[in-house]
Amino acid sequence: MIFQWILLTFGIRLTTPASISVTYSKNLTTQEEVQNAKEEIVHYVNLNETVNDISALKTEANKLYNSHLNDIEDALFDFNSSHCAVEEWNNNRTDSIPHEDRHKEWANQNLLNRKYLYHDSFSLLAAFVYTDQIIVTLTAENKFNQTVYCRYYDCHRKEIPDPFKTSVFPESTVFCARRPGAKYISISKTTEEQAELPIPIVPRIENPPHYFTVCMATLYGDEPKFLQIVDFIEYYKLQGATFFHIYLRNVSNYDRVLLDDYVRTGDIEIIKMHDHFWRDDFMWHNAQINDCHHRSKFFSKWTAVIDIDERIEMRSESFKTIISLLDSIRDPNIVNLHFKVQWVIKGSDTPAEYVNEKELIDEIIFHKYQNTSQIGGFWNQPKCIIRPEKIGMMTIHAPMTTYSGLRRSLVNETIGVVRHYRNVEQRVFAGALERMMVHAPFNIYPIPKWIDELLTDAILNRVKWVYNVVDVSCDKK
Ligand SMILES: *[C@@H]1O[C@H](CO)[C@@H](O)[C@H](O)[C@H]1NC(C)=O
Ligand SMILES: *[C@@H]1O[C@H](CO)[C@@H](O)[C@H](O)[C@H]1NC(C)=O
Ligand SMILES: *[C@@H]1O[C@H](CO)[C@@H](O)[C@H](O)[C@H]1NC(C)=O
Ligand SMILES: *[C@@H]1O[C@H](CO)[C@@H](O)[C@H](O)[C@H]1NC(C)=O
Ligand SMILES: *[C@@H]1O[C@H](CO)[C@@H](O)[C@H](O)[C@H]1NC(C)=O
Ligand SMILES: *[C@@H]1O[C@H](CO)[C@@H](O)[C@H](O)[C@H]1NC(C)=O
Ligand SMILES: *[C@@H]1O[C@H](CO)[C@@H](O)[C@H](O)[C@H]1NC(C)=O
Ligand SMILES: *[C@@H]1O[C@H](CO)[C@@H](O)[C@H](O)[C@H]1NC(C)=O
Repeated sequence: MIFQWILLTFGIRLTTPASISVTYSKNLTTQEEVQNAKEEIVHYVNLNETVNDISALKTEANKLYNSHLNDIEDALFDFNSSHCAVEEWNNNRTDSIPHEDRHKEWANQNLLNRKYLYHDSFSLLAAFVYTDQIIVTLTAENKFNQTVYCRYYDCHRKEIPDPFKTSVFPESTVFCARRPGAKYISISKTTEEQAELPIPIVPRIENPPHYFTVCMATLYGDEPKFLQIVDFIEYYKLQGATFFHIYLRNVSNYDRVLLDDYVRTGDIEIIKMHDHFWRDDFMWHNAQINDCHHRSKFFSKWTAVIDIDERIEMRSESFKTIISLLDSIRDPNIVNLHFKVQWVIKGSDTPAEYVNEKELIDEIIFHKYQNTSQIGGFWNQPKCIIRPEKIGMMTIHAPMTTYSGLRRSLVNETIGVVRHYRNVEQRVFAGALERMMVHAPFNIYPIPKWIDELLTDAILNRVKWVYNVVDVSCDKK
């Protein structure tokens, strides 16, 4: 039996205890260091024996380094490698999924049967456990109504042999029953076949930790993003949002530094959109909406489902921010606030990098672009704020079905409107410019002064913190 203890603290490796061969991962230079290392080794020779007499170890040589020897292990760490902790909340088994009949009904109506792209795997994206079910989101969009099995795995990713038969519904979604100790999950067509790599099951068991959060549609494309990202996040923070789910296909390394700083401060989670199959960047939208819908259930009471270039704007004296409007809603049947859109002509790209304060202030989107259209109709690319757990199926512009409550509650445009900055370059969607121009006449329409001031400050502070890195003189370096 060969013990290979890698003692990281000292960078020393012992091989067989019987014949101790010692290699040093760092080069010991001085005699003193060599001597110290030898004293350390002495303490570990006995590792393969049970230590009966702790006091015997408290030799003169030991004192300097190991003067605090314990008799018993901390209860929290009194486990070995074969142990899987099962938290109380995870000691739960269910035999069915909620709303099963309604899902069947909707499936038989073929609701949102997309048959989109050509995936030949389910392509698991994420999984969440709620008190009454586990929801798995997929990036495949061509598995509608397929019979599948949920496969469960413990903390060591060892399968818990108790699969659950269910189906893919809605598209890109699998509702699974719960299994005690399940930490990872996968999906397969049969119980025998090898399932694709399991993914972690993220708990959504506690009381919802947030009141208002935002889902940002997938970031991609060559337009520089840092200024749009910081504007988006700081704007919605002023509106009362406390967390953002940001979907990422690709941004420049420069822009990524800003996103990562928002991860550092706990404002955002980045969800990378990638799977084993080809798709053009804009084709991630459905999968993103679906994932964020389920991800936000029991995570937040209200969730806005919007794009990087959209700002839901409050227009009345009674409700100055989004959360003040949300706070006024007591009727549990209001589960989707539907906002109309007003377009702003965005004549050029935002800058690629921070140069100085003055330039940034000029380039800030709501300073530079204010030429605004009339308000569009009910179905002109509306956006919404939803109660995620009440919604059955979500699409880009509105919910398709609800479990309870009214499918649509239109927000009067005197209360709120989406300000949609439309880049005239039309990188992806040909015809978008004409569709915007239909909503003429255009007029200069700035954002409210109080938001302008607070937002300008917030943007400057964040951008300077992230990009205006303090340099030092050569001699200090
Ligand atoms: C360590 O354990 C092995 C196997 O049990 C034994 O053969 C060996 O003598 C032990 N070494 C020491 C130094 O006690
Ligand atoms: C350690 O130092 C010796 C003598 O200077 C040198 O030959 C050897 O390459 C060094 N080993 C490592 C791992 O740096
Ligand atoms: C790990 O601990 C458990 C419970 O104390 C025990 O049954 C098992 O034999 C231990 N396994 C190993 C490899 O030591
Ligand atoms: C969905 O699957 C069920 C069960 O396999 C089947 O009865 C039903 O016809 C299917 N519906 C559609 C629209 O394919
Ligand atoms: C366990 O499952 C039951 C049945 O769905 C549910 O009512 C209960 O809240 C669950 N408990 C936990 C801690 O998830
Ligand atoms: C990702 O973005 C960078 C920088 O904009 C670009 O050079 C690269 O080609 C993009 N990669 C993909 C896969 O889109
Ligand atoms: C606003 O846009 C319209 C339509 O393109 C244009 O005719 C008008 O001159 C613009 N107004 C300003 C102040 O730029
Ligand atoms: C929107 O609110 C305004 C002002 O209160 C009111 O005049 C108008 O009738 C409302 N529109 C609808 C569709 O309710």
